[in-house]
Amino acid sequence: MIGLLWEGRGMRGHCFSVMLTVLFLGTLLTTFIWYMSNDSHVEPHRLPAPKKTEKRAPSVSSDSCNDCSHVEPDKLPPQKKTEEKAPSVSSDNCKGCSKVINKVLEHYSQTWTKQEENYQKYRSQLHTRCRGSEKAILTQANTPVGSKILYDGEKQRFRKVTLELFRTFMKESPFSNKTWDTCAVVGNGGILTNSNCGNTIDSTQFVIRCNLPPLENEFKAHVGSKTDIVTANPSSYMKKFGGLQGQRRPFVDSLQKYGNSMMLLPAFSFAFSTPPCLRALYSVEDFEIPIQPVFLNPEYIQNLTDFWRSQGVREIRLSTGLVVTSLALEICTNVHLYGFWPFSHHPHGFQPLTHHYYDDRKANYFHSMPSEFKLLLQLHSQGVLRLHLGQCGEQ
Ligand SMILES: *[C@@H]1O[C@H](CO)[C@@H](O)[C@H](O)[C@H]1NC(C)=O
Ligand SMILES: *[C@@H]1O[C@H](CO)[C@@H](O)[C@H](O)[C@H]1NC(C)=O
Repeated sequence: MIGLLWEGRGMRGHCFSVMLTVLFLGTLLTTFIWYMSNDSHVEPHRLPAPKKTEKRAPSVSSDSCNDCSHVEPDKLPPQKKTEEKAPSVSSDNCKGCSKVINKVLEHYSQTWTKQEENYQKYRSQLHTRCRGSEKAILTQANTPVGSKILYDGEKQRFRKVTLELFRTFMKESPFSNKTWDTCAVVGNGGILTNSNCGNTIDSTQFVIRCNLPPLENEFKAHVGSKTDIVTANPSSYMKKFGGLQGQRRPFVDSLQKYGNSMMLLPAFSFAFSTPPCLRALYSVEDFEIPIQPVFLNPEYIQNLTDFWRSQGVREIRLSTGLVVTSLALEICTNVHLYGFWPFSHHPHGFQPLTHHYYDDRKANYFHSMPSEFKLLLQLHSQGVLRLHLGQCGEQ
């Protein structure tokens, strides 16, 4: 039934191909910029050739949580349908987007009730096939000295676990045999702007945030500040903090707001991710701040990718948002999602949204036809998790 959401409306062929071209060029440009931004910390001979990239296996998308879909040029999600709508949306007025959004809302129940049977089904499948509670992060228990860590983004590459690397792992998984009653996964979407969800999020037992988001005063009322897990993609912090080559104090200071939360680093997605993630970990150790850096386990990513693919997710690389949502489904009884909304306009007022709650980039329409979001919506309507799209305290 969700498939219906993205049914196309009548559209002229030439518009469609123009949009397709724009989309393709845009993605190429993004990929190019992404490589450029990684340049500073990559040993040149280790840069994967562009050809390889297209074939590379699943890994976590380098973008933040709100980018539920990471569109790759060679693997366009169900876009034929969605693209046909794109031309009717301009960034300032929402002529056509209300149609798309209203269709989404038809499947979005405001009076949500948890459906225990559906929740248990996903939870036990995730536990059997991916076992995030034990394997989501690398630990001394699941990754002994001498073993090989296979990169999830570069199939043939691995890193042998030396004593030095082993020392950086947590002893055992902090999630094993533990269940939290309520968890919030907070994406960074512009939908959170003026949402007043800060208190609601902060009153959740366990809060997961994405990609080192700002939590300063002007945002606190809308996104809260409590943090138990925060993900950190090297592409963002390396650029912002000079590749951690010079002074590291500004970086370390920027982490203080996350307290003693776990900082989840995708150190073994690509070979070039490892040095910057280790640099982040060593910075934290050297300055002895309370945040706890941990490494995402690439085997978990791989198993998750296989699992969600079997459930219809089409993206090659899972977004970090879906990775942490999957973990939450395993370790939390009630999962609430905030800040996940891939469309350019607000579902209620139809006002234009920024890409992230903390920037003034316009939300990018072309980022927004994700099969990942379709999945989240489906999980919401099946009562597995609850997706929050409105203001808090008003619903
Ligand atoms: C995940 O994948 C690995 C390697 O493909 C496999 O050995 C393992 O059994 C899988 N499942 C779990 C729950 O880890
Ligand atoms: C979790 O529970 C299992 C079985 O009840 C037990 O064997 C295991 O040692 C426990 N793990 C931790 C980390 O407590």
